[in-house]
Formats: sequence, C-alpha cells, structure tokens
Amino acid sequence: MSHHDRRSFLQNSVLASAAAMSLGGARSLYAQEPAKSGGKSPNDRLHAAVVGVNGRGGSHVSSILDRSDVVISHICDIDENVGASRSAKIGEKQGTVPEFVRDIRKLLEDTSIDIVTIATPNHWHSLGALWAVQAGKDVYVEKPVSHNVSEGRRVVQAARKHGRIVQTGTQCRSNPGMRDAMKFIHDGGIGDVKIARGLCYKRRPSIGAKGEYPIPPQVDYNLWLGPAPEKPLTRPKFHYDWHWQWDYGNGDLGNQGIHQMDLCRWALNKNQLSDRVVSYGGRFGYVDAGETANTQIIVHDFGTQQLVFEVRGLETPKLRDVGVGIIVEGTNGSLVMSSYDSGKAFDPDGKVIKEFSGGGDGHHWSNFIEAVRARDHKKLNADIEEGHLSSALCHLGNISLRLGKQIEGGQMLDALKDFKGHEDMKATYGRTAEHLKANQVDVDKTIFSLGQTLELDAKAETFKSSDAANSMLTREYRKPFVVPSEANI
Ligand SMILES: NC(=O)c1ccc[n+]([C@@H]2O[C@H](COP(=O)([O-])OP(=O)(O)OC[C@H]3O[C@@H](n4cnc5c(N)ncnc54)[C@H](O)[C@@H]3O)[C@@H](O)[C@H]2O)c1
Repeated sequence: MSHHDRRSFLQNSVLASAAAMSLGGARSLYAQEPAKSGGKSPNDRLHAAVVGVNGRGGSHVSSILDRSDVVISHICDIDENVGASRSAKIGEKQGTVPEFVRDIRKLLEDTSIDIVTIATPNHWHSLGALWAVQAGKDVYVEKPVSHNVSEGRRVVQAARKHGRIVQTGTQCRSNPGMRDAMKFIHDGGIGDVKIARGLCYKRRPSIGAKGEYPIPPQVDYNLWLGPAPEKPLTRPKFHYDWHWQWDYGNGDLGNQGIHQMDLCRWALNKNQLSDRVVSYGGRFGYVDAGETANTQIIVHDFGTQQLVFEVRGLETPKLRDVGVGIIVEGTNGSLVMSSYDSGKAFDPDGKVIKEFSGGGDGHHWSNFIEAVRARDHKKLNADIEEGHLSSALCHLGNISLRLGKQIEGGQMLDALKDFKGHEDMKATYGRTAEHLKANQVDVDKTIFSLGQTLELDAKAETFKSSDAANSMLTREYRKPFVVPSEANI
C-alpha cells in the first residue's frame, strides 16, 4: 500500500469509527481497524507528534531534531505556555513550526501523523499510548509505561492486536556499554547470577507544604487530570512534583528507579513477574505535600534469584561507587554499572576483569525508527512488553508498601527475621537505618510502613490471595478517560 493509500485507508477507518461511534457501536474512543500499511518508503520523512513537551518531552524534541528522517509535525500539551514556547523553538531549528494541539484526542484524529511520542505524567502514559495505537500510530512512550499493572498489559495487547510498534523510554536498553555488560553476565561472565541490586540514591528535597493551590491559568486541568480523580491541586509546583503524589506518580521507584528496575530484571533474564514481593519504607526527614516513600526497600523473589531494590531520597554516600545504578552478584564475581552505559565486572577477589562503556539517547531513537520502518516489534530493544514487566515490578513494590502495617523502626529487625533471604534483608535494613541516622532521623521511634509479603501468580499477573492487593492492580478511571477492557482494545 502506498503512503497515499495508507492515509486514505486511515482516514476511512477514522470516518468508519466515527460513524460507528455515532451509532453507539464504537468500543472505545479510537478503536478502528489496525493499519495494514507496510509503512512509508525509506525516503519519506516520518511525521512525529510529541505529547507533553515540558521536561522530558523537550529531550524527545532534541533527539528527533537530530535526525533527518523524522519531522516534528505536531506537538500536544495541555499547558498553553509550554506548548507555544516549545512550538516556536522547534520552528527556529526545524524551519517549519509544528501545529500545536492541546487535546490528545483531537491530535489523534490527524491521519498525517505516523509516530506519537509520549512524555506526559505517568497516569496518562498507558491511556495515551493505547489510544494512539488504536488510531494507527507507532508510539514511543516514556517510562513507566503505566500507572498500574493492568493498564500496562492492555497496551501490550493493543500494540499486538493493531500491529503497532511501541518502544519504551528506557533508553539504557540501547546503550552499547549496557548491552555488552548484559551479554557478558548472560554468557556466564560472573557465574550464576544470584542477586540483582538496583540503587536509586537520588536527593529529593521537600516539595513544600500541602495546601490548596490555584491552577495555573494556562493549564487545562481537566485534561491534565485525565484518568485521575477530580481533586484540587495540593502541591505548590504544578509540573514535575506530581511524581510524589499517588494519583499521578509512582514515587522515585517509578521515576528514576524504573530504569534500574528494568536493568535488574534484564540482568536476571526474567520475562515475567516475580513469585513474591515485599516492600517497606516511608517518607522521612520532612513533612510536605508528597505522599510517596522517599526511603524504600523492595524485594522481589524469583525462586533461586532475588531482586533487591533501594530508594534513598535523603543525602547518602554511594554503595560500591553506585548512586544510581545496579550491582549484580554472581557465584563467580560481580558487575557494577554506575551509570546508564558504563561500569565494570569484578572477580571474587575484587579485581576488575572487564570494563564497559558507550551510550547516548540517539541509539534508542534509531532503534525505534528502524523497527518502525521494518514493521517488526521484535527489533525493538525496549518493546512495550519489556516496559510493562519492569513498570509492573515497581507497582507491585508500591502495592506491598501501601498495604503495610505501621511499626516503629526499633521493631523492624525483629519483624524482618522470618522473611525469606533474611540475612540480606537484615543487612539492607541495617544500612538503611545507618543512612537515616546520618540524616538526623530518630530511626527507632520513626514509623515505617512494613509491607505485606504478597504471593503472585506471575503468569496471570495477579496476586494469589489478597483481594486488597488485586484491587490495586488497576484504578477507577474518571470518564471519559477510561482504559478499555481486554475485550475492547
Ligand atoms: N527516559 C528518561 O530518562 C526520562 C527522564 C525524565 C522524565 N521521564 C519521564 O517523562 C515523563 C514526563 O516527565 P517531565 O519531567 O517532563 O514531567 P513534567 O510534568 O515536567 O512535564 C509533563 C508535560 O506533560 C504535559 N501534559 C500533561 N498531561 C497532558 C496531556 N493529557 N496531554 C498533553 N500534555 C500533557 C504537561 O503540561 C507538561 O508540560 C514522566 O513520565 C517521566 O517519568 C523520562
């Protein structure tokens, strides 16, 4: 099918879908026949729309502007000022000013758009990606790809059903240094991998007092809220700080941490959820408008292997030269990756046996465009299913934490003694307690949330015996911003 034919096909599909909707027959806002196109010819520039262009969306723009094979034809943002200024800047660099649209639903009606990239807050990722896929677009969606476990799986299903290419914004997956390191350990370079430790040691100051703040006048708050419940703005800063409120964000575990969670899962070579999860922690050192933990330990049990994750938002020294990174422990050595692309492998005596380096976001974008041109999701380095599984490991940790009982730090060691792998648990807690003390937290008297240990049916992606936990695998969507059910994707 030629490019022109493809556009008419899509146009017809949209019209057919609109007609179906008016007859009350549409299954969802954007449900239509999947595009059957083989894509544009290699000489055609792909038309991209960037959705959410404040912080990370600005990086999407830069990465796309670095390429000669993609043009930014549209941008979409619910903040008029952010959208207008980004549009003007793109115009200066690109020579053509992209069309600025505020409502993603309107954007997706435009059949000239081939690619949609999404850098909105987390609570919009899955719905935006799913609607874009249904509208026949290929998608680059930021991490975490979901705000809850269930909607992430829906996007995977929709991508497959509609034959769309969906890349996750976990760019480490395309860095040559990281790829070499993963191959090294998968080839047995440090023996059998036993523990993958993810560290997210990143200073996060207070976001200011909880209150009721005015909505900035240039913002369409209804569109910003999307699937989230109608609530006033309770944090001082409108953009970015939503990461620390549960209705929109997933804490640092689902912010910075998802990159390292993904690397840990990759290191363990696991393509499904864990058998068991437990998490503990709290928001220590200040009281503010934030709700998510700034100090959190998450342990995923994969039978013979463990994934142990630490989030620290207060001032902290590094562990084995790692602030944000991973430490993988094997039966014959270890691997320490202290950035998105570089690190070292050590023998059991601590001698360096191999070094790794090389990266840059451009690799990930090139990989996405190649897969789009080839119409083959198997070529993706971070296919949506990878993004879904790693995002889900973060959500599961947060579910355990949020269902936890409140206990004083002084009781924690005793409470952890019956946990599987308790020697490592004890050591991790000990280091966490020292870290908190160094930040003047009175650890013994401080209240921790000690999460439930939750058993999982890893394949079904549900909990085995907790209705409360199962209910947190999804959310109540605010109409009409509803992620469709499996039957209706
Ligand atoms: N891959 C990475 O390394 C990386 C780095 C930073 C951020 N991120 C991810 O990027 C996302 C955005 O982060 P940020 O720091 O730019 O956040 P931000 O709050 O600064 O920016 C989000 C932008 O999205 C806009 N927006 C919100 N809802 C929208 C909607 N429905 N339609 C269109 N626009 C909408 C907002 O107005 C804002 O301009 C986050 O999910 C974050 O996890 C990824």
